[in-house]
Amino acid sequence: MQAVVLAGGLGTRLRPVTLTRPKPLLPVLNRPLVCRVMDLLPPQVDEVFVATGYMGDRLTEFFAREKGRRRVEVVVEKSPLGTGGALRNIRDRMKGRFFVLNGDVICSLDLRRMLRYHEQKGGLATISLWDIEDPTAYGMVVLDRDGRIVSFKEKPRREEVVSRAVNAGTYILEPDILGCMEPGREISIEREVFPSVLARGLFGFRFEGHWFDAGTLASYLRIHAFLLNDLRGGMGKGRDCNIPRTVAWSAPVLLGDRCSVGERSRLGPRCCLGDRVTLGRGSTVRDTVVHNGATIGDRVLLEQCLVGENARIDDDVLVPPGSIIGDGQQLELRP
Ligand code: GDD
Ligand code: MG
Repeated sequence: MQAVVLAGGLGTRLRPVTLTRPKPLLPVLNRPLVCRVMDLLPPQVDEVFVATGYMGDRLTEFFAREKGRRRVEVVVEKSPLGTGGALRNIRDRMKGRFFVLNGDVICSLDLRRMLRYHEQKGGLATISLWDIEDPTAYGMVVLDRDGRIVSFKEKPRREEVVSRAVNAGTYILEPDILGCMEPGREISIEREVFPSVLARGLFGFRFEGHWFDAGTLASYLRIHAFLLNDLRGGMGKGRDCNIPRTVAWSAPVLLGDRCSVGERSRLGPRCCLGDRVTLGRGSTVRDTVVHNGATIGDRVLLEQCLVGENARIDDDVLVPPGSIIGDGQQLELRP
């Protein structure tokens, strides 16, 4: 069976790190988001298309090096085709029923169960659903008693909210749905396609467990908090780290390889450092994710931050909570 991962978004809400790296390659617990997304795919999926555009060359390079269990082909759009146009673009390659995964969703959906449900219902598409307090940032879905979707409204305005069920970003589609789309133009599957094919049978599939969309700093940190809590023993450390005894650990904490931490610094709770991260003396890192090669000086407090690759924060710099420091960015103390 085949699957498509939609990975061509601009990641605007995670700028500036997404100005230098595409969102699917941002690490989640030190492993690229797109790999974690693909972990969801059941064994019968032997071919995956990663549909992208924005910084597509980076994804092409990544998958050329990455040797996985299945064939992965990166398809680069010259200009963004939207979530529907991206699928229409590879119509000739699709051999039958296929999975579609939004490239920024981390969840506990069981695709095999969803596939059985799809076969049972026999519709044109099955959409995974998650209940949420405020659906205005998502695709809102209304279901009838048989699980049939009777309305689909992308990003409803507050006064349009009539349901808490939202599109959780994973679909099973019959290839016929691609026939509803014109080739060569930008099409949103959520805004244009789903609402127009309801009569042909669109079904919703709810699941239990967890669901996160990694689109914003808050949700990126929430995913880390959730996955860190699952860390065995609450601590994880890579090879060749240099951590003196005066460092205070507060679980959960994860460190990559070759990290170095200065005397009397405090790690955690919910601190995730990539490889080769250097932290000075008397600094604190909590509810924060630091990417590979970043250097943080002495007496720096990082709280609810994302620090990009090879960024540098000098001694005593005040970093406001909730900051995103770009790749290679330098924060200096100005007198
Ligand atoms: N190839 C390609 N081309 N992919 C794209 C394009 C494009 O032009 N535009 C967006 N994508 C990819 C993004 O990279 C992302 O993985 C996925 O499509 C969804 O786009 P987002 O920009 O993340 O959309 P959203 O989070 O606002 O809303 C979507 O996801 C929600 C659940 O997380 C919608 O599908 C909502 O209905 C849904 O509730
Ligand atoms: Mg998203």
